Amino acid sequence: KTDFKIAPSILSADFARLGQEVDDVLAAGADIVHFDVMDNHYVPNLTIGPMVCEALRKHGVTAPIDAHLMVKPVDRLIGDFIDAGASYITFHPEASEHIDRSLQMIRDGGCRSGLVFNPGTPLTFLDYVMDKVDMILLMSVNPGFGGQSFIPGTLDKLRQARQRIEASGRDIRLEVDGGVNVDNLAAVAQAGADTFVAGSAIFKAARAEDPNRYDSIIAAM
Ligand code: DX5
Ligand code: ZN
Repeated sequence: KTDFKIAPSILSADFARLGQEVDDVLAAGADIVHFDVMDNHYVPNLTIGPMVCEALRKHGVTAPIDAHLMVKPVDRLIGDFIDAGASYITFHPEASEHIDRSLQMIRDGGCRSGLVFNPGTPLTFLDYVMDKVDMILLMSVNPGFGGQSFIPGTLDKLRQARQRIEASGRDIRLEVDGGVNVDNLAAVAQAGADTFVAGSAIFKAARAEDPNRYDSIIAAM
């Protein structure tokens, strides 16, 4: 049986009370903290960096932190996120001059490595580095913003990625990110994903004054 994991994207959380938001989704049953890093260069938005990752660790977060780097270049921030306590570090192949080296840096730093595929990016980037990835992340929206609609063609691509993972015989997580919600989650799982990022579906669904506000949405996933 597949070991499914829910990874709330804190991009849609209330940044003014981030520690509490993360505590609340984890208490509600979430498995992984998805941490979106945007640089206003590789993607047209600007978010949070390694200092905030470190602050979450100091706050007491022990769950895996999944740093999704939407930055170019990537290598220096890889080092910073290793030091900041990230668990997974994923980056977009178009954003690295030396994909193999960036993946190796992540592993050498003791973190789990991953490549992220935009909707228009071919999976062929995996051809020669399958033994260096611990996670494959398929974007089901174009990166940069939360709250966009799931691109249906991602389902076929998930099946292709799942086939590559089975053929490799390796233990590689298949994560999907963008527009995932309770209505399409079953189809996304059916297509082969085992790790589900959800931002607006989780954080925007809740009433801020209720301390148990995330319980029902996480339970529904
Ligand atoms: C988009 C980010 C996503 C985003 C997903 O570039 O990588 O993680 O937060 O948000 P939703 O779930 O609202 O599409
Ligand atoms: Zn993301």
